[in-house]
Amino acid sequence: MTPILLLGAGRMGGALIAGWREAGAFAAADLIIRDPHADPAAFPGAVVNPPLEALAAARTVLLAVKPQIWREAAADVVPHLAPDAVIVSIAAGVRAADISEVFGGRRVVRVMPTTAVAIGLGTASIYADTAEARARAHALLAPVATVVDLDDEALMHAATAVSGSAPAYLYAFIEALEAAGAGQGLDPAASATLARATIVGAAALLGQGGEEPAELRRQVTSPGGTTAAALAVLMGEGGFGDLLPRAMAAAVRRSKELGA
Ligand SMILES: NC(=O)c1ccc[n+]([C@@H]2O[C@H](COP(=O)([O-])OP(=O)(O)OC[C@H]3O[C@@H](n4cnc5c(N)ncnc54)[C@H](OP(=O)(O)O)[C@@H]3O)[C@@H](O)[C@H]2O)c1
Repeated sequence: MTPILLLGAGRMGGALIAGWREAGAFAAADLIIRDPHADPAAFPGAVVNPPLEALAAARTVLLAVKPQIWREAAADVVPHLAPDAVIVSIAAGVRAADISEVFGGRRVVRVMPTTAVAIGLGTASIYADTAEARARAHALLAPVATVVDLDDEALMHAATAVSGSAPAYLYAFIEALEAAGAGQGLDPAASATLARATIVGAAALLGQGGEEPAELRRQVTSPGGTTAAALAVLMGEGGFGDLLPRAMAAAVRRSKELGA
Protein backbone atom coordinates (compact mmCIF):
# COMPACT_ATOMS: atom_id res chain seq x y z
CA MET A 1 0.00 0.00 0.00
CA THR A 2 3.03 2.32 0.11
CA PRO A 3 4.25 4.79 -1.00
CA ILE A 4 1.39 6.97 0.19
CA LEU A 5 0.83 10.22 -1.71
CA LEU A 6 -0.77 12.99 0.37
CA LEU A 7 -2.55 15.59 -1.70
CA GLY A 8 -2.58 18.32 0.94
CA ALA A 9 -0.66 18.29 4.20
CA GLY A 10 -2.51 20.95 6.18
CA ARG A 11 -4.22 20.45 9.53
CA MET A 12 -5.64 17.00 8.88
CA GLY A 13 -2.98 15.65 6.52
CA GLY A 14 -0.35 16.93 8.96
CA ALA A 15 -2.21 15.36 11.91
CA LEU A 16 -2.18 11.96 10.17
CA ILE A 17 1.51 12.24 9.38
CA ALA A 18 2.26 13.13 13.02
CA GLY A 19 0.15 10.21 14.26
CA TRP A 20 1.76 7.71 11.90
CA ARG A 21 5.20 8.91 12.96
CA GLU A 22 4.31 8.53 16.64
CA ALA A 23 2.82 5.05 16.05
CA GLY A 24 5.69 3.95 13.81
CA ALA A 25 3.04 3.00 11.24
CA PHE A 26 4.85 4.00 8.03
CA ALA A 27 8.42 4.94 7.25
CA ALA A 28 8.81 8.64 6.46
CA ALA A 29 10.44 7.65 3.16
CA ASP A 30 7.13 6.01 2.15
CA LEU A 31 5.30 9.35 2.27
CA ILE A 32 5.09 11.59 -0.78
CA ILE A 33 3.68 15.01 0.03
CA ARG A 34 2.18 17.31 -2.53
CA ASP A 35 1.19 20.66 -1.08
CA PRO A 36 2.11 24.01 -2.63
CA HIS A 37 3.41 25.53 0.59
CA ALA A 38 4.80 22.46 2.37
CA ASP A 39 8.08 23.05 4.15
CA PRO A 40 10.27 19.94 3.64
CA ALA A 41 11.86 20.59 7.07
CA ALA A 42 8.43 19.94 8.64
CA PHE A 43 8.33 16.42 7.15
CA PRO A 44 11.79 14.95 7.73
CA GLY A 45 12.52 11.95 5.54
CA ALA A 46 9.42 12.34 3.36
CA VAL A 47 9.48 13.16 -0.34
CA VAL A 48 8.04 16.67 -0.64
CA ASN A 49 6.72 18.09 -3.91
CA PRO A 50 8.68 15.84 -6.26
CA PRO A 51 8.28 16.12 -10.06
CA LEU A 52 4.87 14.89 -11.24
CA GLU A 53 6.41 11.77 -12.84
CA ALA A 54 7.40 10.54 -9.37
CA LEU A 55 3.73 10.25 -8.36
CA ALA A 56 3.37 7.05 -10.41
CA ALA A 57 5.05 5.19 -7.55
CA ALA A 58 2.17 5.89 -5.15
CA ARG A 59 -0.05 2.89 -4.33
CA THR A 60 -2.35 4.91 -2.07
CA VAL A 61 -3.44 8.52 -2.59
CA LEU A 62 -4.83 10.47 0.37
CA LEU A 63 -7.03 13.30 -0.84
CA ALA A 64 -6.65 15.83 2.00
CA VAL A 65 -7.35 19.24 0.47
CA LYS A 66 -10.36 21.44 1.21
CA PRO A 67 -13.55 20.12 -0.41
CA GLN A 68 -13.88 23.38 -2.39
CA ILE A 69 -10.67 22.75 -4.37
CA TRP A 70 -10.50 18.98 -4.64
CA ARG A 71 -11.22 18.89 -8.37
CA GLU A 72 -8.37 21.25 -9.28
CA ALA A 73 -5.99 19.48 -6.88
CA ALA A 74 -6.86 16.18 -8.56
CA ALA A 75 -6.65 17.47 -12.14
CA ASP A 76 -2.90 18.09 -11.96
CA VAL A 77 -2.00 14.66 -10.66
CA VAL A 78 -4.48 12.20 -12.19
CA PRO A 79 -2.59 11.70 -15.48
CA HIS A 80 0.52 10.71 -13.52
CA LEU A 81 -1.00 8.15 -11.11
CA ALA A 82 -0.66 4.38 -11.40
CA PRO A 83 -3.88 2.72 -12.65
CA ASP A 84 -4.15 0.57 -9.52
CA ALA A 85 -3.62 3.41 -7.01
CA VAL A 86 -6.40 3.50 -4.39
CA ILE A 87 -7.85 6.93 -3.57
CA VAL A 88 -8.58 7.54 0.12
CA SER A 89 -10.57 10.76 0.49
CA ILE A 90 -11.07 12.68 3.71
CA ALA A 91 -12.78 15.59 1.93
CA ALA A 92 -16.04 16.35 3.76
CA GLY A 93 -19.16 15.72 1.73
CA VAL A 94 -17.52 14.79 -1.57
CA ARG A 95 -19.10 11.63 -3.02
CA ALA A 96 -17.12 8.51 -3.87
CA ALA A 97 -18.65 8.29 -7.35
CA ASP A 98 -17.54 11.86 -8.17
CA ILE A 99 -14.04 11.17 -6.88
CA SER A 100 -13.79 7.94 -8.84
CA GLU A 101 -14.91 9.70 -12.01
CA VAL A 102 -12.34 12.49 -11.64
CA PHE A 103 -9.64 9.94 -10.73
CA GLY A 104 -10.26 7.93 -13.89
CA GLY A 105 -12.33 5.13 -12.35
CA ARG A 106 -9.79 4.23 -9.66
CA ARG A 107 -11.04 2.60 -6.47
CA VAL A 108 -12.16 5.05 -3.81
CA VAL A 109 -12.73 4.89 -0.08
CA ARG A 110 -14.07 7.76 2.01
CA VAL A 111 -12.86 8.47 5.52
CA MET A 112 -14.00 11.05 8.05
CA PRO A 113 -11.23 11.36 10.66
CA THR A 114 -10.78 13.57 13.70
CA THR A 115 -7.69 15.66 14.47
CA ALA A 116 -6.74 13.51 17.49
CA VAL A 117 -5.20 11.06 14.99
CA ALA A 118 -2.13 13.24 15.64
CA ILE A 119 -1.79 11.60 19.09
CA GLY A 120 -3.17 8.16 18.22
CA LEU A 121 -6.58 8.96 19.72
CA GLY A 122 -8.49 9.75 16.54
CA THR A 123 -11.82 8.47 15.33
CA ALA A 124 -12.50 7.50 11.73
CA SER A 125 -15.71 6.69 9.89
CA ILE A 126 -15.10 4.66 6.73
CA TYR A 127 -17.22 3.98 3.68
CA ALA A 128 -16.15 2.02 0.59
CA ASP A 129 -17.84 0.07 -2.18
CA THR A 130 -15.28 -2.70 -2.12
CA ALA A 131 -13.68 -4.71 0.67
CA GLU A 132 -10.26 -4.03 -0.83
CA ALA A 133 -10.63 -0.24 -0.68
CA ARG A 134 -12.09 -0.49 2.83
CA ALA A 135 -9.09 -2.55 3.93
CA ARG A 136 -6.77 0.13 2.58
CA ALA A 137 -8.46 2.79 4.69
CA HIS A 138 -8.31 0.52 7.74
CA ALA A 139 -4.58 0.05 7.24
CA LEU A 140 -4.12 3.85 7.15
CA LEU A 141 -6.39 4.74 10.05
CA ALA A 142 -6.30 1.83 12.50
CA PRO A 143 -2.81 2.73 13.82
CA VAL A 144 -4.07 6.17 14.90
CA ALA A 145 -7.85 5.95 15.33
CA THR A 146 -10.88 4.01 16.50
CA VAL A 147 -12.49 2.93 13.25
CA VAL A 148 -16.22 2.61 12.48
CA ASP A 149 -17.38 1.12 9.15
CA LEU A 150 -20.49 2.58 7.53
CA ASP A 151 -22.48 0.48 5.08
CA ASP A 152 -24.28 3.37 3.40
CA GLU A 153 -22.41 6.35 1.96
CA ALA A 154 -25.26 8.71 2.88
CA LEU A 155 -24.38 8.11 6.54
CA MET A 156 -21.05 9.91 6.03
CA HIS A 157 -22.96 13.19 6.47
CA ALA A 158 -24.14 12.12 9.92
CA ALA A 159 -20.72 10.71 10.81
CA THR A 160 -19.19 14.06 9.88
CA ALA A 161 -21.69 15.86 12.12
CA VAL A 162 -21.23 13.50 15.08
CA SER A 163 -17.49 12.88 14.79
CA GLY A 164 -15.40 14.82 12.26
CA SER A 165 -16.77 18.19 13.35
CA ALA A 166 -17.40 17.30 16.99
CA PRO A 167 -14.01 18.18 18.53
CA ALA A 168 -14.86 21.80 17.69
CA TYR A 169 -18.18 21.52 19.56
CA LEU A 170 -16.32 20.33 22.64
CA TYR A 171 -13.76 23.11 22.41
CA ALA A 172 -16.61 25.62 22.06
CA PHE A 173 -18.25 24.07 25.16
CA ILE A 174 -15.00 24.46 27.11
CA GLU A 175 -14.64 28.08 26.00
CA ALA A 176 -18.17 28.77 27.23
CA LEU A 177 -17.57 26.90 30.51
CA GLU A 178 -14.43 28.93 31.16
CA ALA A 179 -16.17 32.21 30.43
CA ALA A 180 -19.13 31.26 32.62
CA GLY A 181 -16.78 30.35 35.48
CA ALA A 182 -15.14 33.75 35.17
CA GLY A 183 -18.62 35.25 35.10
CA GLN A 184 -19.23 33.69 38.52
CA GLY A 185 -16.18 35.50 39.92
CA LEU A 186 -13.32 33.05 39.32
CA ASP A 187 -10.04 34.45 38.09
CA PRO A 188 -10.13 33.70 34.30
CA ALA A 189 -6.89 31.70 34.47
CA ALA A 190 -8.20 29.62 37.38
CA SER A 191 -11.50 29.07 35.58
CA ALA A 192 -9.63 27.92 32.47
CA THR A 193 -7.45 25.52 34.45
CA LEU A 194 -10.44 24.06 36.26
CA ALA A 195 -12.56 23.69 33.12
CA ARG A 196 -9.82 22.13 30.98
CA ALA A 197 -8.49 19.69 33.59
CA THR A 198 -12.03 18.65 34.48
CA ILE A 199 -12.95 17.89 30.86
CA VAL A 200 -9.72 15.96 30.25
CA GLY A 201 -10.28 13.88 33.39
CA ALA A 202 -13.95 13.23 32.58
CA ALA A 203 -13.05 12.15 29.03
CA ALA A 204 -10.34 9.84 30.37
CA LEU A 205 -12.85 8.20 32.73
CA LEU A 206 -15.23 7.65 29.82
CA GLY A 207 -12.32 6.32 27.76
CA GLN A 208 -11.72 3.56 30.28
CA GLY A 209 -14.86 2.14 28.77
CA GLY A 210 -16.49 0.61 31.81
CA GLU A 211 -19.57 2.77 32.06
CA GLU A 212 -22.17 4.51 29.95
CA PRO A 213 -22.06 8.33 29.85
CA ALA A 214 -25.49 8.41 31.50
CA GLU A 215 -24.18 6.30 34.38
CA LEU A 216 -21.10 8.51 34.80
CA ARG A 217 -23.42 11.52 34.84
CA ARG A 218 -25.61 9.96 37.52
CA GLN A 219 -22.53 9.26 39.66
CA VAL A 220 -21.85 13.00 39.97
CA THR A 221 -25.47 14.11 40.28
CA SER A 222 -26.96 14.01 43.78
CA PRO A 223 -30.72 14.54 43.87
CA GLY A 224 -31.39 18.17 44.73
CA GLY A 225 -27.69 19.06 44.49
CA THR A 226 -25.70 21.62 42.54
CA THR A 227 -25.10 19.38 39.51
CA ALA A 228 -28.79 18.57 39.28
CA ALA A 229 -29.57 22.29 39.31
CA ALA A 230 -27.22 22.94 36.38
CA LEU A 231 -28.41 19.87 34.46
CA ALA A 232 -32.00 21.03 34.76
CA VAL A 233 -30.92 23.96 32.60
CA LEU A 234 -28.57 22.05 30.25
CA MET A 235 -30.96 19.14 29.70
CA GLY A 236 -34.20 21.11 30.00
CA GLU A 237 -36.14 23.04 27.40
CA GLY A 238 -33.78 24.64 24.88
CA GLY A 239 -30.92 22.54 26.27
CA PHE A 240 -28.82 19.78 24.69
CA GLY A 241 -31.88 17.78 23.60
CA ASP A 242 -33.00 20.70 21.45
CA LEU A 243 -29.63 22.18 20.53
CA LEU A 244 -27.72 19.10 19.39
CA PRO A 245 -30.31 17.89 16.86
CA ARG A 246 -30.37 21.41 15.39
CA ALA A 247 -26.57 21.59 15.29
CA MET A 248 -26.36 18.12 13.69
CA ALA A 249 -28.94 19.08 11.09
CA ALA A 250 -26.94 22.21 10.20
CA ALA A 251 -23.72 20.17 9.83
CA VAL A 252 -25.46 17.53 7.70
CA ARG A 253 -26.96 20.25 5.49
CA ARG A 254 -23.52 21.81 4.98
CA SER A 255 -21.92 18.43 4.28
CA LYS A 256 -24.48 17.84 1.54
CA GLU A 257 -23.83 21.30 0.07
CA LEU A 258 -20.07 20.68 -0.01
CA GLY A 259 -20.61 17.50 -2.00
CA ALA A 260 -23.01 19.05 -4.48
N1 LIG B 1 -9.59 19.80 10.04
C1 LIG B 1 -10.46 18.87 10.44
O1 LIG B 1 -10.78 18.73 11.63
C2 LIG B 1 -11.02 17.87 9.46
C3 LIG B 1 -11.76 16.77 9.94
C4 LIG B 1 -12.21 15.82 9.02
C5 LIG B 1 -11.98 15.98 7.67
N2 LIG B 1 -11.31 17.07 7.23
C6 LIG B 1 -11.11 17.22 5.79
O2 LIG B 1 -9.75 17.28 5.54
C7 LIG B 1 -9.53 18.05 4.36
C8 LIG B 1 -8.41 19.02 4.65
O3 LIG B 1 -8.82 19.88 5.70
P1 LIG B 1 -7.74 20.67 6.56
O4 LIG B 1 -8.45 21.21 7.75
O5 LIG B 1 -6.52 19.82 6.73
O6 LIG B 1 -7.43 21.88 5.52
P2 LIG B 1 -6.08 22.69 5.38
O7 LIG B 1 -5.43 22.85 6.71
O8 LIG B 1 -6.41 23.91 4.59
O9 LIG B 1 -5.16 21.72 4.52
C9 LIG B 1 -5.26 21.58 3.13
C10 LIG B 1 -3.85 21.71 2.57
O10 LIG B 1 -3.92 21.50 1.16
C11 LIG B 1 -3.05 22.46 0.56
N3 LIG B 1 -3.38 22.62 -0.86
C12 LIG B 1 -4.03 23.64 -1.48
N4 LIG B 1 -4.11 23.42 -2.80
C13 LIG B 1 -3.51 22.23 -3.03
C14 LIG B 1 -3.29 21.45 -4.22
N5 LIG B 1 -3.72 21.85 -5.40
N6 LIG B 1 -2.63 20.28 -4.09
C15 LIG B 1 -2.22 19.85 -2.89
N7 LIG B 1 -2.39 20.54 -1.73
C16 LIG B 1 -3.05 21.71 -1.81
C17 LIG B 1 -3.27 23.68 1.38
O11 LIG B 1 -2.25 24.62 1.17
P3 LIG B 1 -2.60 26.20 1.34
O12 LIG B 1 -3.05 26.36 2.75
O13 LIG B 1 -1.30 26.85 1.06
O14 LIG B 1 -3.68 26.51 0.37
C18 LIG B 1 -3.25 23.09 2.78
O15 LIG B 1 -1.93 22.96 3.29
C19 LIG B 1 -10.85 18.73 4.03
O16 LIG B 1 -11.39 18.16 2.87
C20 LIG B 1 -11.70 18.50 5.22
O17 LIG B 1 -13.07 18.30 4.85
C21 LIG B 1 -10.81 18.01 8.09
